[in-house]
Amino acid sequence: MADGGTMRETLTRHWPEAGAGRVPNWVYTDPDIFAREQKLIFSGSSWLFTCLEAEIPNPGDFKRSRLGAREVVAVRNKDGAVNVVVNRCAHRSMQFCVTNRGTAKEFVCPYHQWTYDLDGKLLGLPFRRGYKGQGGMPADFEPAAHGLETLSVACRNGVVFASFAQPNETLETYLGPKMLGYFDRVFDGRPLEVLGYMRQRIPSNWKLMMENIKDPYHASLLHVFLISFGLFRADQESSMEMYGTGRHAVLVSCRAEDGDNAATGQMRSFRERLTLQDPRLIDPVREFPGDATVVMQTVWPNLIVQQQSNALAVRQIVPLDAQNFDLAWTVFAYADDPPELRERRMRQANLFGPAGLVSIDDSEAMLLSQAGIANNDERDCVVELGGREVADAATMVTETLIRGMYRHYRAVMGL
Ligand code: FES
Ligand SMILES: [Fe+2]
Repeated sequence: MADGGTMRETLTRHWPEAGAGRVPNWVYTDPDIFAREQKLIFSGSSWLFTCLEAEIPNPGDFKRSRLGAREVVAVRNKDGAVNVVVNRCAHRSMQFCVTNRGTAKEFVCPYHQWTYDLDGKLLGLPFRRGYKGQGGMPADFEPAAHGLETLSVACRNGVVFASFAQPNETLETYLGPKMLGYFDRVFDGRPLEVLGYMRQRIPSNWKLMMENIKDPYHASLLHVFLISFGLFRADQESSMEMYGTGRHAVLVSCRAEDGDNAATGQMRSFRERLTLQDPRLIDPVREFPGDATVVMQTVWPNLIVQQQSNALAVRQIVPLDAQNFDLAWTVFAYADDPPELRERRMRQANLFGPAGLVSIDDSEAMLLSQAGIANNDERDCVVELGGREVADAATMVTETLIRGMYRHYRAVMGL
């Protein structure tokens, strides 16, 4: 946030007077706002989700990832520690790593073959001393001053986070005790196993994805699949909880029996007679303590932790520009899962991802939201369901988590 002061002076945008209950459409479209987010949120002291440790289990294993607009490489070094380096050669800035995942002894930039070790240190460069007394780098060239840019790294129970700044809080303090409890509920220290990946590009602002997961109102109305099969409905016991500032949140719900009642009467998407040819598709088994059957956690600014029945995934939000983002899904299991449970997780995963029976609704909703926003830049979105305050709530009929997110957003962005 070093240049927050200077950027603040150049701001010409003003938040609507209605405050917490409104979100101006320009936060989803303005390229200057996007650039400011990259500086103050993604390059600031936030801890950014980078990958799972299970993706890079052995020394030399690496994986490319994108933290905001910048690409990084997460790599396990010779001693087993995880480093995260910017995918930019210290010579003339080429992206030296072009493979998504792999194993390397060292990184060699293809352009002029500058070579770095797994900690990002420059090991050598061709013709440093020239050829036959001609050319080469100046005598005072210091390889130690030309390593790869390294990030701060924090790993917790198999999940890797990184930060471009030296964060003033540990990852644990950043999450806060309540959110840490929910995080550890899924990431309890058991080794993880990656089941697969899904990726999609969504033509909308990245914050609409965060809003979508903080929005139980839509989940109980839009998704025919969730409502009709009783996976997530407004008449179910639920709780919306936030970390103090509103930056992280969980949406918790407990599955109830299917059927018609006072709540389903208000849900146009409810289909009473809809049945599945193969009910195993949504057949859950209890595996976590407590009654919650769905816990969707948003970790600001780029991570969604999904526990929907037995379907587990992390979803990484990668903003591309003000009106486009990529969503990268990593579906996982626990390494010690019995084969039957692993298969169950895979079957339930059909509900999610770009073509998922539930998630496909969200992709379209975000596309249409952006389309409506982009052509009506001077208007506001209304987020007053459940009041204009920001507080935890025990109902799905609320937009409190969205208000909480923007309270935090405005503080960081100086809006
Ligand atoms: S740009 Fe990487 S070696 Fe020249
Ligand atoms: Fe949804």
